[in-house]
Amino acid sequence: MKKGFFLSLEGPEGAGKTTLAHRLAGWFRERGAEVVVTREPGGTPVGQRVRELLLSTPMEAETEFLLYLADRAEHTRRVIRPALLAGRVVISDRWADSSFAYQGYGRGLSLAWMRAATEGATGGLVPDLTLLLDLEPEVGLARVRGERDRLEAEDLAFHQRVREGYLALAAAEPERFAVIPANRDPERVFRSAVKAVKRRWGG
Ligand code: TMP
Repeated sequence: MKKGFFLSLEGPEGAGKTTLAHRLAGWFRERGAEVVVTREPGGTPVGQRVRELLLSTPMEAETEFLLYLADRAEHTRRVIRPALLAGRVVISDRWADSSFAYQGYGRGLSLAWMRAATEGATGGLVPDLTLLLDLEPEVGLARVRGERDRLEAEDLAFHQRVREGYLALAAAEPERFAVIPANRDPERVFRSAVKAVKRRWGG
């Protein structure tokens, strides 16, 4: 049976995850892989509606996490797992580490609770590789165009906790994470990403 490859991209607003996801997809395709590029929140019809709710409506931190997790359960079971089973490369613009960083470190929810719930919701899936695009929150937020959504509109202290959280998550799992400084030209970010991918996937 062919084995798929699950790559998640993480980082703050404005770090360039979406552009990188598409460039990496091209890189994998040039090497003969079938690739699915997807994102959270919003990678399924349920997720699209959950996304609108999440980004617009004030709510409790617990509710917020559970809605992101509902999106993740649907997305993981309907999109990610089937693609991996078919031997595809899945590139997800955000996955579970976003919740650990934003709702855990940012909002102060229990990481132990979140991890247990995530395991149940996703069936224990873990990315083969997670690229963390690391960036000062000031720089990322300045890159956001148009009106800020509900999460982007949080204060700088929140975004700093999210960044520190991401770095702590990466330090705790150096095998799975590659940390890439994102405050430099996109070509260098792409080259660093490819280097990390080559180590895990080959190519
Ligand atoms: P996006 O801007 O990358 O599409 O993500 C939407 C927002 O949702 C972004 O501010 C990060 C936030 N988010 C969380 O707070 N927790 C999560 O689990 C996910 C997936 C995203």
